[in-house]
Amino acid sequence: MIVVSIRKVKYDKNNEWEKLIRTSSFSRLFKKEPTMPILIDGKKTSEEIKNEIAARVMEIKSEGGKIPHLAAVLVGNDGASQTYVGAKVKSCEQVGFASTLVRLDEDVSEEELLKKVEEINDNPDIDGLIVQLPLPGYISVEKVTSKIKPEKDVDGFTPANVGRMVLNWPSYVSATPNGIVELLKRYKIETSGKHCVVIGRSHIVGSPVSILMARNENPGNCTVTLAHSRTKNLPELAKTADILIVALGKPGFVTADMVKDGAVVIDVGIHRVEDPSKKSGFRLVGDVKFEEVAAKASAITPVPGGVGPMTIASLLYNTLLAAEKKIYK
Ligand code: GUN
Repeated sequence: MIVVSIRKVKYDKNNEWEKLIRTSSFSRLFKKEPTMPILIDGKKTSEEIKNEIAARVMEIKSEGGKIPHLAAVLVGNDGASQTYVGAKVKSCEQVGFASTLVRLDEDVSEEELLKKVEEINDNPDIDGLIVQLPLPGYISVEKVTSKIKPEKDVDGFTPANVGRMVLNWPSYVSATPNGIVELLKRYKIETSGKHCVVIGRSHIVGSPVSILMARNENPGNCTVTLAHSRTKNLPELAKTADILIVALGKPGFVTADMVKDGAVVIDVGIHRVEDPSKKSGFRLVGDVKFEEVAAKASAITPVPGGVGPMTIASLLYNTLLAAEKKIYK
């Protein structure tokens, strides 16, 4: 049983997610009163972080300093990308940042995009720059990402920032891995000496979070196993995890039989699945079967409202660091 240094959570009979766990098929199957896990609330935590950032912006204003400014470049009309970028711009307004949204046509040339990145690199009023991914197939993500000035790379995607993160030098850490670590920190979850299994080796989440969890930091100091599509005996391996981070992009992949009693479970997945009982016709689920896994876990992130909201909070935090020149002096 993993020890989580956090206050005992009282059972609240009116709490919907608690009801869900208590009546889950896992609990019924094993005729066992489930332990009540800590719900790691990313929505609440991200609001707290945004409030902290907004308070700092007020201070900067009162000191007559420069307001942080984020520029986002969006190529084309992909619906999901428009939604994400819209949410980023809206969050900038919420915390008092300035923001610039640069929209480029779907058929923009690579040269034009690179020129736009250079222009923003050279604009002293802009502190942070993100180019929303994915880009159209004919544009080299490698060329575009490498063109972003490391000092303005608040996504933490450039080779300079990824390298510095691996070396544990000051760097911008990309939004989702940073959000996961921040949740573990704010919920005071003990990580030192624990076995952390990360499922998924993407450049945006799995690989960087595996580095962060192994660093000589708190959170960190885990023994990390990075599992992926070629990993043998994945269910058995996952079951050895004290901390299980799931970022492989398959709805409901992790089931209760893959989770150790008392594990901390972080679900990075987010998927729409059809649900005729909902007015919208769909509901959001993660990579983890929430109800049955929550009945075994000591702490778990829900979907939605877990890791997702933390990503924008991390981006805003990096933009504040950029404006205050905290990473590159
Ligand atoms: N596409 C999906 N996630 C991200 C992100 O964090 N940053 C950028 N720039 N594009 C994305």
